[in-house]
Amino acid sequence: MKLKFSMIISFVCSFVFSQNNYFVSGKQWKDTDGVHINAHGGGIVFVDDTYYWYGEYKTSGRSGNTSLEGISCYSSKDLYNWHNEGIVLKVEQNPKSEITKGCVMERPKVIFNKKTGKYVMWFHLELKGQGYDAAKAAVAISDSPKGPFQFKKSYRPNKGVWPIDFKEEFKVASNNEASLKSWSPEWLTAIKNGMLVRRDFDKGQMSRDMTVYVDDNEKAYLIHSSEENLTLHISELTDDYLDFTDKWSRVAPAGHNEAPAIFKKDGIYYMITSGCTGWDPNAARSFKSKSIFGPWETLGNPCVGKDAELTFHSQSTYILPVQGEKDQFIFMADRWNPKNPIDGTYIWLPIQFENGKPILKWLDKWNLNAFTENQ
Ligand code: DGJ
Repeated sequence: MKLKFSMIISFVCSFVFSQNNYFVSGKQWKDTDGVHINAHGGGIVFVDDTYYWYGEYKTSGRSGNTSLEGISCYSSKDLYNWHNEGIVLKVEQNPKSEITKGCVMERPKVIFNKKTGKYVMWFHLELKGQGYDAAKAAVAISDSPKGPFQFKKSYRPNKGVWPIDFKEEFKVASNNEASLKSWSPEWLTAIKNGMLVRRDFDKGQMSRDMTVYVDDNEKAYLIHSSEENLTLHISELTDDYLDFTDKWSRVAPAGHNEAPAIFKKDGIYYMITSGCTGWDPNAARSFKSKSIFGPWETLGNPCVGKDAELTFHSQSTYILPVQGEKDQFIFMADRWNPKNPIDGTYIWLPIQFENGKPILKWLDKWNLNAFTENQ
């Protein structure tokens, strides 16, 4: 009798919790077990008829932003109702492992490689006990979108290689650059002129906040905050998506961008980023370019309305093309909660276009019909 009762409760719960038909940003998002989704700084890949959402599995309390479990995954057929697939890349117990429990694994993004048939996860890796100094990009692979992912390697990208179109004169340090005062106009000019690219040339370039993007021709790119978060780098990946081709460019030198998210519409690439204020929200920025390698033109803050200067209290993480629909893109962002990271929430908004620019407007509650209603 007891068993039957619990079965009924479980059936009622799954019925109740599988009835989401809307995105309600900033509120608790219950998975199909009725538990708030734990997939922060995430990204989504679409496989067959299913979306897989990967993210940072956060825990309670101040240490909750370090990786104590690993990277989580949720699956959904409709983007509203998410089933917990568990931890698909687990932290390791071996203290010598780069992904040992207590390291920092942020902003995981998974892409599918059609040539190798592998799912490839890139993420931002910081080594345990070293703050944000390591600034590495790391890669893991799996045969299935549901994992398990095997950790392969971490990188400081583009070791010993100059960016494309890097001026000859930028390859040589100016005499006084080491003594310039941080944030002075001269210092910012030195950054623009590649001071930190030169500093990290032998060691490899820094890689903190990141995303990955697969283009129409299946070429993939890591887009990462580099040069102490002052300049974004776009680094082409090898055909197996596991390494770098040495072809890379810089975006918005000295522009201080984090949280890159990218999409393509009518042959034009668009990027939305944030400024750099730790876990605190700031105003988003947007850019466009005819080529992935640039030049990228600044389009300003894509957010409009109340709290636009704080990206509606959130920070970008990914831009999701809605499958089977032309020009339907969802802006995905995190509303961080550094005091209790597990309670962080998600801000998803439809990307609209006005005067050739991507626009984000706050919506309390919306669903995919919003795209057709706006046309
Ligand atoms: C802002 C970044 O966007 C986050 O991913 C995280 O690295 C925090 N900074 C850490 O302060």
